[in-house]
Amino acid sequence: MSKQIQIAIDGPAGAGKSTIAKIVAEELGFTYIDTGAMYRAVTYKAMKENINLNDAIALEKMLLLTSIDLKPSENGQLVYLDGVDVSQLIRSNEVTANVSEVSAHANIREILVKKQQELAASGGIVMDGRDIATHVLKDAELKIFMSATAEERAKRRFIDNEKRGIPSSIETLKQEIIQRDKFDSEREASPLVQAEDAIYLDTTELSIEEAAKSILRLAKEKME
Ligand code: DC
Repeated sequence: MSKQIQIAIDGPAGAGKSTIAKIVAEELGFTYIDTGAMYRAVTYKAMKENINLNDAIALEKMLLLTSIDLKPSENGQLVYLDGVDVSQLIRSNEVTANVSEVSAHANIREILVKKQQELAASGGIVMDGRDIATHVLKDAELKIFMSATAEERAKRRFIDNEKRGIPSSIETLKQEIIQRDKFDSEREASPLVQAEDAIYLDTTELSIEEAAKSILRLAKEKME
């Protein structure tokens, strides 16, 4: 059997991380973990319970009484919040607009990072997020920092939204993406940065298949 490795994929919103990570995991028979979905699930619940998203203590109290489970399915990874499937609900524009604020709290990150590390403890893993290579899986055998121009990423989110039946405009999405990147990169707790030992992959001109292929090639080298 080939070696079971950890693959960390980080990068800004809309770079193609989750789509590509899913393909890579499937090809290798590895488990895929979408950490952004966890921050989204916390944000969704906090908004539903009218918790002030600025209030780190209240959010932590809520999170300690919350269960978040990621389950693979034929239609990709499903996200269960307290036993209820919220996979679609956590992709709404409202959650997207507020998730950066929630994910900036160090105490919330600490709890979720611990959970992510537990999930990754056994077997081959492909995990995507913002701080996977720098904090969650510092010893990952393969680290990728994936990006694309804001223009291209907005276009992709627009097509994604269309498929999900979520109305949006490319220009608004682009502005939101730029804002969210800025917030995620400038926050104090585990900001979005490329790890020193990560490989930079620009997906602007690449198809999903091409990007997945180049990661698979690198992964196979590490698995030999
Ligand atoms: O990848 P995404 O758009 O679903 O992520 C949602 C937000 O969660 C993103 O704006 C930043 C935050 N996030 C994070 O801070 N750390 C991670 N490991 C993953 C996501």
